Parts: sequence; structure tokens; C-alpha cells
Amino acid sequence: MSQLRFLIENFERAYGDAREAEKRKELQEARRGFLQAAQFLFQAAAATPEEDAKLRSQRKANAQKLLDKARTLRAQLERPDPALAADAEGGEEAGFVAMEKPDVDFSLIAGLDEAKEQIRLRMIYPFQNNDLANLYGIQRGGGMLLWGPPGTGKTLLARAVAGEIKVPFFSVKPSEIMSKFVGEAEKNVQKLFETARQQPLSVIFIDEVEALVPRRAETQSNVMTRVVPQILAELEGVDSAGKNPLMFIGATNEPWSLDPAVTRPGRFDVKVYVGLPDQPARLKILQLNLDKRPLAPELDLEDFALKLDGFSGADIRNICQTAAQKAFLEALNTGATVPIDRDALEAARGRPSVSPNDLERFEAYRAQSWS
Ligand SMILES: Nc1ncnc2c1ncn2[C@@H]1O[C@H](COP(=O)(O)OP(=O)(O)OP(=O)(O)O)[C@@H](O)[C@H]1O
Ligand SMILES: [Mg+2]
Repeated sequence: MSQLRFLIENFERAYGDAREAEKRKELQEARRGFLQAAQFLFQAAAATPEEDAKLRSQRKANAQKLLDKARTLRAQLERPDPALAADAEGGEEAGFVAMEKPDVDFSLIAGLDEAKEQIRLRMIYPFQNNDLANLYGIQRGGGMLLWGPPGTGKTLLARAVAGEIKVPFFSVKPSEIMSKFVGEAEKNVQKLFETARQQPLSVIFIDEVEALVPRRAETQSNVMTRVVPQILAELEGVDSAGKNPLMFIGATNEPWSLDPAVTRPGRFDVKVYVGLPDQPARLKILQLNLDKRPLAPELDLEDFALKLDGFSGADIRNICQTAAQKAFLEALNTGATVPIDRDALEAARGRPSVSPNDLERFEAYRAQSWS
């Protein structure tokens, strides 16, 4: 094999690995990969024949970009999210275990009635009716997995739980455990559950849970192989009948990437599908997003919602924002208030972000694996 081909092949492998690692939020590994890729590409540029001057400089420029990318990642690794450290409780314990007080509640969420009811059943009714709950041996807290296509309100719903029942909310992203605290991941997991258990009642939210508890066969990182079993054990160790019940909510739009062990009883044992909004939910999302904006008097939101079959909540929010921006610009130009009308909404509509294929995959998974 020619030296150049060797270098290019190695560059491609390193680059591919780095991209994958970045997707998994393993920033250390990603950074190493990008550095390696840059090295190979610099060498490849040098080995590119002089007469291919354009290709040479292109490779050099791309290698430089990769270096910059690695630098950005290092900065990210060194500088933990200040927002997290800032409102964390417990002084020097701050940094990882961040307590949040989201100001959203169920009234801001359209549809998803089953999910809301499950949450009430486990977190609200038993505490309002303690004796009755004991009589019937009702479990408090426990685990719930919200799964479904992107942009359907999983993260919003989890945040609203805390606002709805006014309890401390501990939100964890896999990247926070895995990248900033490599080597300390186990300690962080332990601290998280310990801190949460000290509260009379609390919610732990693990977003993008598939990144934290991936199928073991796909798990290559050292941190992962140690941390995954630990998290599973912590979840199981939550004493639902005990004094300090804990609710843990996981969210994922890649349920097939999850370690099947997480859905065993005692872990995320309630699984709620969070799907695309139906007609009433779409109307409500339109209203939530448009009610406070100037609207054309003849605008029929109910009719527009009919045209939004297949759009996610996030899509609908984007349509509203785009239409509002357009009207705002016109208002800036004309100096008069320009109401948002059907044309502006239609123009902003675009296509659903969840493709029919993706949707089919969710539906198939739903039928096959989880109902
Ligand atoms: N059911 C809903 N009711 C009201 N707003 C919604 C709903 N679903 C989505 N939205 C809007 O879309 C935004 C994005 O939703 P969210 O981030 O909760 O989606 P998600 O399911 O967590 O997506 P992902 O799987 O990509 O993480 C919300 O902040 C909200 O503005
Ligand atoms: Mg989300």
C-alpha cells in the first residue's frame, strides 16, 4: 500500500472513531481521535504530490480544523458548565449534583395523558392519601422510562414533574458523568443517589439515558463498563417502600440502544411511549406558542392543526417561532403591528422532522418489545 493511502486510511479511521465518541459524549476519547486524525492528515498533506497543490492545501486546512476541534473539546472538558455548579446545593459538593427547580408544570404540556397519570399515580396520589396508599400497598416513586421520537416533549415532561409536585429535581446528562469527571464517574453516581436520598422526596432525571446505559456489547470504554452496572445497582437499591422515596425518570429516543437490563423490575419498570401529538394536542401546542402573540382575527388554529399531522411538538414550536419572526420583521419595516396569519404559518411549515421511516421503527418497536 502506498504511504499516502496508508495515511488517508488511518485518518479516516481516527476521524470516524472520534465522531462516534463525540456522539456518545465521550469527549476525552473524541479529542484524542480528532488529534490523531489531524496528525495523519498533516502527514498526508505533506505526502501529497507537489503538483496537486490544491489538494495539499485543502488537506492541510482540514487538518488545522481538526486541531481546532480538539482544542474546543479540551476547553469543554476543562470548563464544567458554570450553570450547573452555580445552583447546585451543598457547597464543595457542587459541580456534579445539580439541583434544579424548573418552572414548568403539566399545564404547559399538551397531550401525554398516560405519562402524566403514571406520574401522578406514583408521586402525587400516594402522598396525598397516605393511609389509603398503605392499605393498598401502593408503591411510591420508582423508575419510569419515557421513550419516543425526538421533539415530543420527553425532556419537557420530566422537568415538569418537578414543577408539578414541587420536589427537588436532579438532572443528569451522560456527558456530565462521563466526560468532565473521568475517573470520578463512580463517585459521582454514588453522590448523586446519596444526595437525592437525603431529600424527603426527589426526582432524578437521566436524559439521553441510552448514552449512559448502552447495550453492553457496544460498550468499549472503561468508564462505561464500570459505571453501567453501578447505575443499575443504584436504581435497584432505591427503596420504594422506604421513608425517602425517589423517582427516577429516564428519557431516550433510541430505546434499541439501551441495555435491556435497565428495564427489569425495580429499575425503569414503567415504560411510557411519548409519541407525536394528536389533533387536540397539536392545537394546544399551537395555542401555547401563539396565545401571547398578535394573531390575525380570522386565523383558525384548529384547522391549521389538522394540517400538522406527523409534526412533533418541537416542530410546531419552531413553526410558530418562524412565523412570529417573519411578522416581526415586517412590523419593523412597516412600523405597524403585523399579525401572524395563516400564510405566515403555512410558509413556516416545512416538513416533519420525524420521517415516516423513523416513525415506523418506533411503532414496530412498540409492538414488538414494549407496549
Ligand atoms: N407535548 C408537548 N406539549 C407542549 N410542548 C411540546 C410538546 N412536545 C414538544 N414540545 C415543545 O418542543 C420542545 C422540545 O421538546 P423536548 O425537548 O421535551 O423533546 P424531547 O422529546 O425531549 O426530544 P429529544 O428526544 O430530541 O430529546 C419543548 O420545549 C416544547 O416547546
Ligand atoms: Mg430530550
